[in-house]
Amino acid sequence: MKKDLLKMDDLSKEDILDILNLADQLKYEHKHNIPHEHLKGQSLGMIFEKSSTRTRVSFEVGMYQLGGNGLFLSSRDLQIGRGEPIEDTARVLSRFIQGIMIRTFSQKEVETLAKYSSIPIINGLTDDEHPCQVLADLMTIREYKNILEGLKVVYIGDGNNMAHSLIVGCLKTGMNFSIACPKDYMPKEEYIERGRELAALEGTEFVVTHSPLEAVVDADVVITDVWASMGQEEEAKIRQKAFTGFQISKDLMTLAKQNALVLHCLPAHRGEEITTQIFDEHSNEIFDEAENRLHAQKAVLVKLMKTN
Ligand code: CP
Ligand code: NVA
Repeated sequence: MKKDLLKMDDLSKEDILDILNLADQLKYEHKHNIPHEHLKGQSLGMIFEKSSTRTRVSFEVGMYQLGGNGLFLSSRDLQIGRGEPIEDTARVLSRFIQGIMIRTFSQKEVETLAKYSSIPIINGLTDDEHPCQVLADLMTIREYKNILEGLKVVYIGDGNNMAHSLIVGCLKTGMNFSIACPKDYMPKEEYIERGRELAALEGTEFVVTHSPLEAVVDADVVITDVWASMGQEEEAKIRQKAFTGFQISKDLMTLAKQNALVLHCLPAHRGEEITTQIFDEHSNEIFDEAENRLHAQKAVLVKLMKTN
């Protein structure tokens, strides 16, 4: 496994499956009160330049359960907020702590942090990627469907960080993947190209379309995300218009398989990307997905930070 988890493509197929297997084991141990203090005495710095509920709490609690601790580092309070270079922050923090999770805007900033750190760096969401969330999504899909290979996953909505990490994560694990986005809100071209490459490698299907109706047919799993991500709040109104027809609704779900899962990384905007009815009908898997952030991330922490 690489030193850092900066993007989904940093993980090989084997890495992903190893993490998912360990996550299942850690979940079992957690539920049965079996101690699993793999990171005793270790500290994880958690830098946040954007808001968070799930990521912050799951990483902090996860470190505690692994016998270590998590330090919440708001960029407003750090010297980063006053212009201290990320390169220097990286070198200083590497002397104090054993790993860093960072949530920020630019992917490049995370890459710079990793370049200048001697400790593992974990991407807790950037504008380009959300790999920790996608690991939890894959874990949830496997829990409900017992298998990943051969399933059809459909993503409907914005070609954003979630879309990017899902393209790589789903296609790498042998699933078929269809994505429907409005014309002006497509995933970055490099992710579409990488998706095509991975599908060819795995012998699976990768469909990119502007039609949710076309994408959703026979889906085993339907995934969506907000139409305006953090940092795009001012575009919310324009986006609501552009995403008309991209809502996960009863009508759309009739085209998916009857037992299809619906996943949402949360927070959700009911009445926008998903109807209240569909959200409520699928709340079991959606909140299992949220819980699985804890277990999947603990597996990532152990894989990257455990020294013996
Ligand atoms: N899904 C997710 O990352 O949630 P938070 O923004 O609350 O961390
Ligand atoms: N795409 C969303 C995900 C939130 C967890 C955002 O970046 O705000």
